[in-house]
Amino acid sequence: MTGYIEVFGHGGDVETAASRFGGNAADFLDYSANINPLGPPKEVLEALQQGLHSVLRYPDPGHRGFKALLGERLGVTQEQISVGNGAAESMALILLALAPCKVGTVEPGFSEYRALARQFGAEILHTEGFEELNWKAPAEHIEQLMEKVDLLFLGQPNNPNGVQYPVETLHRLARKAEKTGTVLVIDEAFIDFIPPALRQSLAPDLNQYPHVIIIRSMTKFYAIPGLRLGYAIGHSKYIQAMTEKQVTWSVNGLALIAGEACLRSGERFELDTISQITIERTRLIQVLESYGCSVTSGEANFILVRVPEPWTAASMQEALGRRGILIRSCAMYPGLEAGHVRFAVKGAEANDRLLEVLGSVLEQSGDQDVDMASVDQGIQQGHTQHFEKIKGGKRL
Ligand SMILES: Cc1ncc(COP(=O)(O)O)c(C=O)c1O
Repeated sequence: MTGYIEVFGHGGDVETAASRFGGNAADFLDYSANINPLGPPKEVLEALQQGLHSVLRYPDPGHRGFKALLGERLGVTQEQISVGNGAAESMALILLALAPCKVGTVEPGFSEYRALARQFGAEILHTEGFEELNWKAPAEHIEQLMEKVDLLFLGQPNNPNGVQYPVETLHRLARKAEKTGTVLVIDEAFIDFIPPALRQSLAPDLNQYPHVIIIRSMTKFYAIPGLRLGYAIGHSKYIQAMTEKQVTWSVNGLALIAGEACLRSGERFELDTISQITIERTRLIQVLESYGCSVTSGEANFILVRVPEPWTAASMQEALGRRGILIRSCAMYPGLEAGHVRFAVKGAEANDRLLEVLGSVLEQSGDQDVDMASVDQGIQQGHTQHFEKIKGGKRL
């Protein structure tokens, strides 16, 4: 079968890729998931090796060591932190604890907001970004949406376009949330990849806004997606409600060991990551544009790109997949088009390979080595499962 590989709705699915394109799952150069190309800090791997014996004990259900370090770093109390089995669990816990009837999303956005809201029985309303705003939505459109929903998800920087809303806009939305009683959930899963001086975040002002909850992930920046670790910070009444809904021990002991080691790993790792991502993103954008791709200029460790016609996301994913490179199709995001794909920003050597292969593929006509009928069939078959979860919902 050929076609899109996001059968579970996300990038990084090398097993599906291997079954579609052949080869070993572990051998793909994966540009479809946005993980720090440096890998985890070395202190994290050492701590995991030393901590292996701890698997014979239950993890701390109160996540106290990790929370203490986080609290210090973020200037919040432990009562304001909920630790999750990945940021994805934090999202689920918010929905479980708050049981919103109506959930708002800003599209294109991370599909899990819709998928989870739907799984928890909420009605979904959305607004859409505009190409001329780099796929951001105007603040007044988001405010109008907030008047209609109990809870709104906003990505900052947003996946898949990688752009941030200015902090003034966030303050405006947070003030609106206080007026409308809407809970504003700001997903900062990728914010650590942005240089500190450029980050637009309400985290330092959280105490002003009891209706704002911020979610962060440890899995992308610290390159531990297989371990799962994330957290939410917000008003203690929401955090307590989330704790009450959480399965005891859902955050495993090795993830907590790794999380503490991440937070102790020091500034060097952070600086090296940010500088490499910044340099490589600039280089990738320049070459992609010279190849005729239209690039959305975001600030995160991934790039939203429209491939030149007659290429589509499906045919490009297929052509690169057969050559051992995985990319994320974004054609299924509300508001985006058939040619939209997302590339992670990786290290120089991997990026050289991507650019070389992409350059040679683009010299072809766009559908030469792809049977488009079977791509369409693949889209229908492969996507049914995830589309079932995210379909429906109204555009404002
Ligand atoms: C925007 C965004 N938020 C959250 C997550 C989930 O992060 P985690 O791995 O911590 O569950 C992802 C994963 O791709 C994401 O893209």
